[in-house]
Order: sequence, then C-alpha cells, then structure tokens
Amino acid sequence: MLVLAHISDLHLDGTARATERARRVRDRLWQLPQRPDALLVTGDIADHGTESEYEEAAALLGLRGADAPFPVLTCPGNHDRRAPYRKALLGRPAADGPVNSAHVMPGGAVLMCDSSIPGRDDGLLDAETYGWIESRLEELGGELPVLLAFHHPPVPLHHPLPDSFPLHGSDRLAALMARRPEIAGLITGHAHTPAATTFAGRPLVVGPGVTWTLRLPWEGEPIADRDAPPGFALHVLDDTGRLTSHFRVVT
Ligand SMILES: [Fe+2]
Ligand SMILES: [Fe+2]
Repeated sequence: MLVLAHISDLHLDGTARATERARRVRDRLWQLPQRPDALLVTGDIADHGTESEYEEAAALLGLRGADAPFPVLTCPGNHDRRAPYRKALLGRPAADGPVNSAHVMPGGAVLMCDSSIPGRDDGLLDAETYGWIESRLEELGGELPVLLAFHHPPVPLHHPLPDSFPLHGSDRLAALMARRPEIAGLITGHAHTPAATTFAGRPLVVGPGVTWTLRLPWEGEPIADRDAPPGFALHVLDDTGRLTSHFRVVT
C-alpha cells in the first residue's frame, strides 16, 4: 500500500501571501503523526519560473539536501520554466527537455511527467515523455500498480478557465492506458479545485490549489477565490491497485 500526500499550484511569487499559504500546508504535512510515503507536487510551483522562486520552493519543500520528512516528488506546470526548475529546484544542470522522474516504492510506483509546453499554458505529453513512460513501465514489468502524475487534466472539468488550457493528445494517453492495466490512476493539478472523474476507465483525481481556489460557474464570481483556505489530498493506493483519495483544507 502507498499513502501519498498531494499539493499543487503553489504559485510562489515572492509575496508573503504565497509563502504563508505554502508554509501553512507544508507545516501540516510535515507534522502528520503518521508519515505518508511521499509528497506529490503537481506543478505551477513557481508563478513566473524564476530561479529565486525555485530557491524558495526548494527551501520550503525540503529539497536539495534540506529536511523533508519523506520524499518530495515534483513535476512542472505551465507557470514553471524547465531550465531554472532543474537548476534551482532540483539542483541539476539547466536543460530544456521535459522534466520526468520515476519513483519506485514497495507498494507502487509514481511517474512524475512533464505536461508543460514551453511558453504556453495548454499542455501536452510529448513524444519524448511518452517514450520515457513506456520504458519505465517496461522496466517495472507490470508487477506494481503505477500512478501517472502530471499538471494538466486530460478531460474537461466543466469550467471555462482550466478547459481553455487543456492537455492535448489525450487519445494517445488513453491508448497507452488500454495496453497497460497496471496504471491505477492519474493525479493532476492545474485546475485549482479538488475534483474526481475518470479517464480511460480509471480514476483521475485533481488536487486542490494552494494559492487560490477556482469558483465553479454555479458559485458566481470572481473566478479565483483567494480567501478559500489552501488544501491537500491524501491518496491511498492499495495492493489491488484501487485508489482512494481524501481531501483537506488547512485553515
Ligand atoms: Fe496553477
Ligand atoms: Fe496550471
């Protein structure tokens, strides 16, 4: 069994507001009496993609030799920029290709995939990333349930804002999942609202945003509810591959 904490869309921008909200959620997760196996951070970590924003994120999330109590697994979103993300968040040489990373744990594996398109707000898992996913799944040999985590949800969420910046090419993802029953579900961010649906017959869970919460069309204006408290999810992936997701806000 895997227990995965999940946050998304910190949009760290150097303001005290963004820092305080991210720190509030981080502190709650760091203080959980029973540690999750890992924390997933599904993109839009920085708001402008500057090195200084990633320096702050690395310190706040306990990356780069700092003191996170469990592994912190990240992927970029449309607000992130790959070269400074690699350099200042991950402490690796700056490079422009997709930032993908695989994490194999006793109860399952998580593939953190880059769905960003440099310079754009819509999303795509590109050919390099699909090749990387296929190779990792091949190596794993179908032995463990696998979660794919990336920023852009591959289905419309019935809100004009996230739906105007979708993940393109989701047919290819559906075809891959049809061949790979070990993919237990998809974990995404981007929409700034906790949501659950299905994709290719498997669970698709969207994590809540840290920076602000999306008001749905039935909830009125403005679109960004900046007073709603930040939230996180706790995903439980059991040994049968069933994904159960719980949501919390941090007041
Ligand atoms: Fe975002
Ligand atoms: Fe986004």
